[in-house]
Order: sequence, then structure tokens, then C-alpha cells
Amino acid sequence: MFDVKKFINETIRNLKNEIKGKAIIAVSGGVDSTVSAVLTHMAIGDNLLPVFIDTGLMRKNESDKVKSLFDSLNIKIKILNREEDFLKHLEGITDPEQKRKIVGERFIRNFEEEARNFNAEYLVQGTIAPDWIESGGGIRERIKTHHNVGGLPEKMDLKIVEPLRDLYKDEVREIAKYLGIKNWERQPFPGPGLSIRVIGEVNKNKLDLLREATEIVENEVENAVNNNLIQRPWQYFAIMLPVKTTGVHGDKRAYGYTVAVRIIDSIDGMSGTYSRIPHEILERISINITNRIPEINRVVYDITNKPPATIEWE
Ligand code: XMP
Repeated sequence: MFDVKKFINETIRNLKNEIKGKAIIAVSGGVDSTVSAVLTHMAIGDNLLPVFIDTGLMRKNESDKVKSLFDSLNIKIKILNREEDFLKHLEGITDPEQKRKIVGERFIRNFEEEARNFNAEYLVQGTIAPDWIESGGGIRERIKTHHNVGGLPEKMDLKIVEPLRDLYKDEVREIAKYLGIKNWERQPFPGPGLSIRVIGEVNKNKLDLLREATEIVENEVENAVNNNLIQRPWQYFAIMLPVKTTGVHGDKRAYGYTVAVRIIDSIDGMSGTYSRIPHEILERISINITNRIPEINRVVYDITNKPPATIEWE
């Protein structure tokens, strides 16, 4: 059994010993980075600077949500808008591993700059066990480079601190619940953000379309959960495909984008099954996407388990 209280006390003690000076943490609003920030803040107080980087690869209104989450925790955070920087570096890149490396690198370079301004020597990260296991840190072959692990540049000035390194998501959620952190139920969102959900080259237009589609999937699934029609799935999101197909809008031919919907049930993200979601909910998602986003005229549902597929498409 995982002993939450003991873990928290030991972690705070270890963090106090490990961090001799100032530290910076990248917060995303996700449960891993939030719990890491709260524990580190409990250990070193205002010697920790939490930074939220708006990469342009986030979902709708993500920075406002993160700001109000940290306001509710009485922890000050700094928000940086770096959309232009990230999108510029991703221009022309189609290879998923390369995208992950680039996003990881831009994160670090931007943080290093903030860390210098703040005189921080440490970078706290919300890495959890599946991140480094699947990045090839254990005995298993590398599946994909999670940006907060293998995607880090080799030459880096900051010392890495990973308080949740040995935990699985359900344990992190227990800690969050125990500490009264509101976002413990939030679905995981990958570090490289929407860059790995726009298949092929990433650009602002596709990201904007995907943001709309993502919001529709999230709202429909959350409504269904709130109305007790389904259990909350592990993750539920949209993927923008580099495929255009023929459709009909009114009585006119249309030639638009295809979006895939991925809804998956899992305990820890290491394996999972596609969610047997009622067709009525899938249909509402499909109708809302195609009605509200005229550039998209086809919606497909991903019925692959993990393995053989991974949860994210890239
Ligand atoms: P995959 O796609 O490998 O995803 O089956 C397993 C879980 O990890 C999330 N994921 C990431 N999380 N940084 C993260 O913090 C990453 O680079 C990353 N890539 C995938 C994914 O959303 C799923 O929950």
C-alpha cells in the first residue's frame, strides 16, 4: 500500500537536503507538475519559481486555468508567452521524435533563461515512472522519448530534481487529493502538447482547429461523466490528421481535414483499451466537430488498444 503521508514527509525532507539554493519548475496545470511544485514549495518556499510556458501547443484557455489553479494554492507563478519561438522551431518538421526533441530543447532553453534571471541552479520536474521507463530508462526498449526525460538536451546547466520519479499516476493523484489540489482528476496531457497530436507538420492553423476539436471532445466526455452515462476515461482527445477527404456541405462539395478521436481506458498509461463509449456520445462529438469547424468534414474513432498502439499517435 502506498503511504501518502509518509511519502510527503520524506519527500519534503529530501528536497530540503537536495536543493541548496534556488529552483525553478515548469508547471503545466497537470497533476504531476502541480504536485511536484506544491511539495517543493512546502520544502523551500519562495526559493522555488514555478513558470508556465505558453508554447502555443496548449489547449484553449490553458494559461488562465493554470493561473487560477495556482492562485487557489497561494503559490505565485510566472507566465511566459513563447508561442512564436516554439512554432518557428517546429516549422518543416514532420518526424515525431524530432518534434519531441525540439519541444524539449525549447523548454529547456527558455527555462535556462528564466533560471539565470532568478539565479536558480535546480530544475524540478514532474517526471513519473512510466515516463522514464518508456523512454528507455529501464530494461525496456525505447518506445518514444518523453520530452521531460530523454528529450532533454545533453548539455544543460541546471541540476535536475525529480521528486515523483518512482511513482505511478494513481499514486500522484492520491497525493494531490490528500493535499487538496483541485486538478487531481484532470486527464494526462503530454509535455510536447498538441505538437504530437497534429500529425505531420505543425502550424498555427492546424493547432487552432485541433484546439476547437479538443474542446468539443473534452466537453462531451465530461458532460457524459457528470450525467453518470460513463465512467471517466483515462484520456479523451482529438488528433489532427494530415489527410483531406471529400465531403458535402449543404449541396456543395467540400474537401476538408480528418480528425481522429481517441478515448482510452487505462490504470497507469502503460497499457490500455479503447473506450467502449456509447455511440450516441460519439455521434454528438462527430456532429459538433463538423458543425462548428467547417474545415473538418470527417471524424474517425480510434479502436486500437495499447499495445499494439500507443496512447498518443506520435
Ligand atoms: P503513450 O503515447 O506513450 O503515452 O502510450 C503514455 C502516457 O504518457 C503521456 N505522454 C507524455 N507525458 N511527456 C509527458 O509528460 C511526454 O512527452 C509524453 N508523451 C506521452 C500520454 O499522454 C499518456 O498518458
